[in-house]
Amino acid sequence: MSVQPIDPKKPDLEESTNVAQQHAAVSRSASAASREQQLRENGLEPVSVWLFIAGSIIAIIAGSVLFKSNNLFGYDEFVKSGYIQAEGEGGPPPVPQGPVEQVYMAKGKELYSGSCAGCHGADGNGASCPPLAGSSWVVDSPYVPAFILKNGLGGEIIVKGKASTGTMPAVGGSYSDLETASIIYYIQNSFGNEVGKLYTLEQIAAINEASEGRSVVGACTAAELEPLKKKQVTGDFFAAGTVINKKTGEIIEAE
Ligand code: HEC
Repeated sequence: MSVQPIDPKKPDLEESTNVAQQHAAVSRSASAASREQQLRENGLEPVSVWLFIAGSIIAIIAGSVLFKSNNLFGYDEFVKSGYIQAEGEGGPPPVPQGPVEQVYMAKGKELYSGSCAGCHGADGNGASCPPLAGSSWVVDSPYVPAFILKNGLGGEIIVKGKASTGTMPAVGGSYSDLETASIIYYIQNSFGNEVGKLYTLEQIAAINEASEGRSVVGACTAAELEPLKKKQVTGDFFAAGTVINKKTGEIIEAE
């Protein structure tokens, strides 16, 4: 049976076609397509299931590696082993301390490289200035270097048979007794010098008192220092290994 078109000019519009229904269907599918287009543009398009599975496998392996190695989330990463946290509010900070010979040596070395090495050389052999290595002015008595540090030195001085006519400023004019003790210990026990005496701060204070009571004003001279070479300190020296406070030089009682 052949179906007759309603309108011979529009041959595909059959009699059975509901125009309103067809129109609605077409418009629905068009709007669905446009919605899907929008989703894709927002980055919410569905992911390939294989990509999803591969991602999951990588995440599981990575997680188990990190867990096993214990490095990323490990307690030990952030806390030193053997560390025991102080009780309460943390308690008083620990006193910086050490055996006196180590404290003197370290402090003296630091002072020497900052304040003396430029003139006397890092090795104490003197560049433009007289040497400290093997100098009787350094090793014979602590009085001589202490007086030079506090007052400076001028005029002619014979060091290891060589005359020097330079001037040294009072480099240690503002040194504390601990600093003076440290620099003297350092120059008396470096560059081949081996005096080995550990002066106490009381002994250094006594020398500085004598220095303040000098009758001469200004820089020391060789003539003034010559008799001091024979002058020695009185009282007991520090015993090696005595623990002192690095900042104040006070003896820390053994527990
Ligand atoms: C600006 C240069 C200069 C600086 C810095 C300096 N000195 Fe001197 N020092 C001299 C000169 C120059 C002499 C010799 C002075 C003279 O000829 O009368 C001398 C002499 C001495 C002497 C006696 C002579 C000898 O060689 O044994 C001692 C000890 C000494 N200095 C120690 C020190 C110490 C320790 C420091 C650092 C804290 C220091 N000097 C920093 C220039 C310097």
